[in-house]
Amino acid sequence: MLKPNCGGRTTCTAIARSADEARAFLAEAPAIELIAEEYVEPARGFLTRIEVVDGACALAVKCSVADNGLSAYRFGSTYAAYPDVPRTVTDAAERAAAVLSIELGSFDVIEGARGPCLIDANSVSNVSEDCTELLGMDLMRAHAEAVARRWHALGATAPPHPRERTRP
Ligand SMILES: Nc1ncnc2c1ncn2[C@@H]1O[C@H](COP(=O)(O)OP(=O)(O)OP(=O)(O)O)[C@@H](O)[C@H]1O
Ligand SMILES: [Mg+2]
Repeated sequence: MLKPNCGGRTTCTAIARSADEARAFLAEAPAIELIAEEYVEPARGFLTRIEVVDGACALAVKCSVADNGLSAYRFGSTYAAYPDVPRTVTDAAERAAAVLSIELGSFDVIEGARGPCLIDANSVSNVSEDCTELLGMDLMRAHAEAVARRWHALGATAPPHPRERTRP
């Protein structure tokens, strides 16, 4: 796999099956930091997207693999709920979230022969309206609720509204 170290939406990403293919890709690639890593076969035919809210798995989604071997919305991948996601997968994502101090974010996981392999970590989540519709869940709302729960657990009270403070 050749891909940007800090990418997004599967841009500038390729599967190189030989040194020549890798060279051809690199000759055309922009001057950004790229990484090379082992291609993990998505043997189950999908990638697993784990959305983390408040450090815990809030949602698991299956993302189909497109004809070019990549899994991305723009290549026609489809998304489906994954209620029976294995515990080993959610545990791996939650451990990674803890290590990386990610409260709200997501991981792309390939369930390979050697267990769950985390290929992408996003320290923020895409909380645009189209994403909320696609996932069937408002991640920002869930995160705000988690923050509010923590606030109330501290027994904290909200500071007065600025307008309240200026009133005589
Ligand atoms: N090590 C790998 N093995 C197999 N496929 C990979 C690997 N790394 C990346 N891919 C494929 O490339 C796609 C994009 O890679 P990745 O998720 O790392 O980058 P991204 O630019 O953040 O993409 P996106 O925004 O679409 O999630 C993945 O969805 C997957 O299909
Ligand atoms: Mg990704």
